[in-house]
Amino acid sequence: MSSNHSSSTMPPATRILGPLKVPSKLLMGPGPSNMRESVRIVLGAPLLGHMHTEFINIMDDVKAGLQYLFQTNNELTFAVSGSGHAGMECAVMNLLEPGETVLVVQTGIWGQRVADLVDRLGGRVQTLNVEAGKAATLEMFSKAVEDCKPAVVFVCQGESSTGVAQPLEGFGDVCHKNGALLLVDAVASIGCVPLQMDALNIDCVYAATQKVLGAPPGLAMVSFSECAVQKMRTRKTRVPSFYFDAFELANYWGCSNEPRRYHHTAPISLVYALREALSEIANEGLEQCLLRHRQCADFLYSKLEEIGLKPYVKEKSIRLPGLTTIELPPNVEFKLIIDKLMSQGIEIAGGLGPTVGKVWRIGTFGVNADKEKILKTVHALDEALKTVHNKDV
Ligand SMILES: Cc1ncc(COP(=O)(O)O)c(C=O)c1O
Repeated sequence: MSSNHSSSTMPPATRILGPLKVPSKLLMGPGPSNMRESVRIVLGAPLLGHMHTEFINIMDDVKAGLQYLFQTNNELTFAVSGSGHAGMECAVMNLLEPGETVLVVQTGIWGQRVADLVDRLGGRVQTLNVEAGKAATLEMFSKAVEDCKPAVVFVCQGESSTGVAQPLEGFGDVCHKNGALLLVDAVASIGCVPLQMDALNIDCVYAATQKVLGAPPGLAMVSFSECAVQKMRTRKTRVPSFYFDAFELANYWGCSNEPRRYHHTAPISLVYALREALSEIANEGLEQCLLRHRQCADFLYSKLEEIGLKPYVKEKSIRLPGLTTIELPPNVEFKLIIDKLMSQGIEIAGGLGPTVGKVWRIGTFGVNADKEKILKTVHALDEALKTVHNKDV
């Protein structure tokens, strides 16, 4: 035993004694995407306390940035400490009471995840099943809402397992006509697909930091409409989590007139990172950010076509600009290609949920919505495919 450690102390494993080593990779998968350089820099800023005036000012900046990002005037707009799933849990836990029904529009894995959560919370799940690679139509959506009269309807705007961007026009009105609240997952779509929360009559949106925003994973952004707040105020049961209680969080984020109370120790550096990412998007302009993602997606489709690859989502208007699913060519071991690219420091991914073994997924989120990075990725994919084909001959 080393002389540095007393006989009663377990020695550390040698692996933890050395310095941290992190390779640099081009993250062209479904997320996290590469960090913005300005975000990386603010992560090194000195820590403040979670109730310090200067930090509270930064939280207020974040709130204003989120209202712009979601295009909403909702007071209850803040960030939850945790990844995208934390946003999902916060939304569902606060909107739903045991015994109530949630209609889940199931276009891929995220509807399944929400259905599982609703079940755990004692809610009832009704499902509108949509074929993978397609979107729900307003007609089928209206019928499902009218038939099951749910308290809450869940829709994923950017279905990252299939690469579909679900159109939402008219969905909020249908929900409100039927006494339901509309909950939208915008984790993979915020900043690359238009989302006008107020104009679309959406009651709750959650998103995350690690895709278009180009900040590290660890914060989920959430916003609740006035209708959602009304329902939450008249709950018969308490929210089954203190950590995710929206009114407790809202107080800490200064969304009420009451003095702020300690709720939890916010991940200070991640809040700096989110503020920086929101500031970058505000300076670029949301419209410009959306356009850049759209143009880069079109560029990617054209480059894939040149090397003989086809998009999995046939209807171009419902493709998710930040994440493209690609049909696997016949007789190609998809995992081998992913590994070949990874050995060159480029990440692309296979399918998820309904698309496992059917697609590759290429992400073009945030700073990776960039033509040079797309060319590099498609070139590497082409070369990898050629070596595999040559071996087959
Ligand atoms: C559409 C969608 N929703 C939710 C999540 C869950 O987010 P997280 O992995 O940050 O918890 C993801 C993650 O990729 C996602 O793409």
